[in-house]
Amino acid sequence: MADLDQAARAILRGNDLGGYTVPTAGLYPFQWNWDSCLVALGWATFDEARAWDEIDSLLSAQWDDGMVPHIVFHKPSPTYFPGPDVWGTGRTPPTSGITQPPVAATVVRRLLETATDTALTEARARSILPKLFAWHRWFHTHRDPQGEGLVGIIHPWETGRDNAADWDAAMAAVPTDGVGDYQRRDLQHVDADQRPKKADYDRYLYMVKHGREAGWVADGLHDSAPFCVADIGINALLLRADRDLAALAERFGDGAAAGALAGWIARSEAGLQRLWHDGEGTYRSLDRRTGALVDASGSGAFLMLTARAVPDDRRQRLLAMMDRWLAAVPYGVPSLDPADPRFDAKRYWRGPCWLIMNYLIADGCTWAGRPDLAARLKADSRAMVEKSGFWEYFDPTDGAGLGGDSFTWTAAMWLAWAGQA
Ligand code: GLC
Repeated sequence: MADLDQAARAILRGNDLGGYTVPTAGLYPFQWNWDSCLVALGWATFDEARAWDEIDSLLSAQWDDGMVPHIVFHKPSPTYFPGPDVWGTGRTPPTSGITQPPVAATVVRRLLETATDTALTEARARSILPKLFAWHRWFHTHRDPQGEGLVGIIHPWETGRDNAADWDAAMAAVPTDGVGDYQRRDLQHVDADQRPKKADYDRYLYMVKHGREAGWVADGLHDSAPFCVADIGINALLLRADRDLAALAERFGDGAAAGALAGWIARSEAGLQRLWHDGEGTYRSLDRRTGALVDASGSGAFLMLTARAVPDDRRQRLLAMMDRWLAAVPYGVPSLDPADPRFDAKRYWRGPCWLIMNYLIADGCTWAGRPDLAARLKADSRAMVEKSGFWEYFDPTDGAGLGGDSFTWTAAMWLAWAGQA
């Protein structure tokens, strides 16, 4: 273990470009939003101040309307596409025009719980509270214009689960005209059978074009975007983060923020239950353009446990689904139901396991009274790293490493969780 701990710390240091960490060199050479937050948990195991720098550097790119972008292009790099010119957000530093799962508040609360340097931690947490609150407010206003208790995403990249089968039907409705020729860079780093397909990329780029032409003005985008889905995963993580932010607001005596958060929490708790699919016994995302639940059961649903938002009867059924999935593969949690004909053990979010998901879902399993499942996810995570190394994601059928190597958030999850007693 000591060797792997050391290797994991070396990956964080090696991917540190000065106050922020890139997910992996080459494939992802900038700062990514939820990567950095989760990576702060890894930094905190050996350098608490550096953990806070990771979050501060991300929040330094926050937009005036409160959005925290999904990529911050601190320094140019030719190894990634689409870069700042394609996004055309006109920000300094340049950023993408969309966001990602808001796990920052959850991480900050965790950093406070595990702090050894309490004075440093309290001061730094207190200083970013208003920024976190502004980000959550942005979600609840601009991405839930009707106040339904469900936020919409306007690009699959916002969910962090880029090519999940959850988006297939909504993606099929996105046009591709005017996208033109482009050169993908991801395929220079990773085998094509482990990455999204060209048909997906054409649509990803059409959505970016739409946002750019709309000037990335938050107000209209939710309604005008060619793709708008209330993703079960991001909504669950937002609810969990709202709870954590409310606890922080109470702790630091910000009654106004705590009050607003209590309202959003109540609204989301009700809204999320509308995503229950009784036939399948799970939660599914909702396509806001058709009003229908999507036709795939993905791992995002288990984040409802992490959100502590599953009533008792539904909880038993959701856990039964997880039991079934984990009986079907030696390594969990697969990102798509292994019984789904679209299950593809190597293709990114259409089958593979991700340590960050395992970490978040294991927390939910403990809450749900299934410590055995939490232990299984931790043991599987540990076994995949021991067998294959610190890969971006893993094949659930044999634990082989896939995607990018020396991956920062996998190393961070090892240090903060999977590799520890
Ligand atoms: C991919 C993943 C996303 C992650 C990013 C950087 O886009 O789907 O979740 O944040 O890579 O690692």
